[in-house]
Amino acid sequence: MGFGGAWNGDALVEGDVARAEAALDAALGAGIAVLDHADIYTLGKAEQAFGALFQRRPSLREQVLLQSKCGIRFADAAGPKRYELSAAHIERSVEASLQRLHTDRLDLLLLHRPDPLMQPAEVAEAFARLHRAGKVRFFGTSNMHAAQLQWLGRHLSLPLVVNQLEMSLAQHDWLEAGTTFNDPQAMASPRAAAWPGTLEHCLAHGVQLQAWGALAQGRLSGRLPADASPAQAKTAALVGRIAQRQGLAPEAVLLAWLMRHPAQIQPVIGTADPARIRACAQATAWEMGREDWYALYEAARGRELP
Ligand SMILES: NC(=O)c1ccc[n+]([C@@H]2O[C@H](COP(=O)([O-])OP(=O)(O)OC[C@H]3O[C@@H](n4cnc5c(N)ncnc54)[C@H](OP(=O)(O)O)[C@@H]3O)[C@@H](O)[C@H]2O)c1
Repeated sequence: MGFGGAWNGDALVEGDVARAEAALDAALGAGIAVLDHADIYTLGKAEQAFGALFQRRPSLREQVLLQSKCGIRFADAAGPKRYELSAAHIERSVEASLQRLHTDRLDLLLLHRPDPLMQPAEVAEAFARLHRAGKVRFFGTSNMHAAQLQWLGRHLSLPLVVNQLEMSLAQHDWLEAGTTFNDPQAMASPRAAAWPGTLEHCLAHGVQLQAWGALAQGRLSGRLPADASPAQAKTAALVGRIAQRQGLAPEAVLLAWLMRHPAQIQPVIGTADPARIRACAQATAWEMGREDWYALYEAARGRELP
């Protein structure tokens, strides 16, 4: 999301391609080989930047799993910001992504957000056509809860293999949903109410969970906002202390916390900085202990568990 320059109609410039190249080289060097795109990122320029890179260095395309998303439309002459998961829009969006990325296939296509007007049978037809044509290998969703996955899944002949959700130490409603389910503390996080069963559905049905916002945009690893809550400040300080003790970057501690969960969550890191990409990869070298894990969880939620 952070590639391709600004979110405006300016043309892609050489510096955007160079930034993508530096980040991808760092990622591959650190063992990270999944690229998360969306048709809307920097209005298509993020995909364009990587497409230009694949044209220059075609072997890079074969070294990565390329995923993109469709379904969000920004306000235009025809209407306001809206979601569209019609068959026509899904297929149009994939064609445009393939062109921008200079590739003949996406390894994964995710439906970016649930569209209240979605007709699952239509989505199924679009998926089947794209798959038959060899344009998309696997399909998944983003920002959908368990019941939506079940409803959609009943119409599809191809499995949903990924669900991408906001999950981090800063956004831990996915845990609150389970830990406070049978306790008055459940009232403290209304957003958790949408979660029950989503984690378990994904685990039970082999749907890979991907976490967006996994670095909490830096808020807990060096970029604490001026108006941070006491819980945020305490969590950031604890992340720093654990990082120092373990000889790791704070970013790696955040990701190690997420990856310690048995769901084997894949963090989607939004950094464009090669040094930070390498720092993130340190997370795979350490399995966090239960005590650190709970200390961080308690600090982030701002009070003791029930
Ligand atoms: N499915 C969805 O609806 C959805 C929504 C949002 C995002 N996404 C995907 O998930 C990815 C990650 O999400 P995200 O970008 O929101 O979150 P993120 O990975 O939590 O944050 C990345 C941002 O935080 C900055 N950052 C991280 N650690 C920092 C630190 N210690 N100090 C200073 N800055 C720091 C990075 O800057 P630098 O580049 O300078 O490192 C970058 O701008 C996106 O790129 C996108 O692919 C998906």
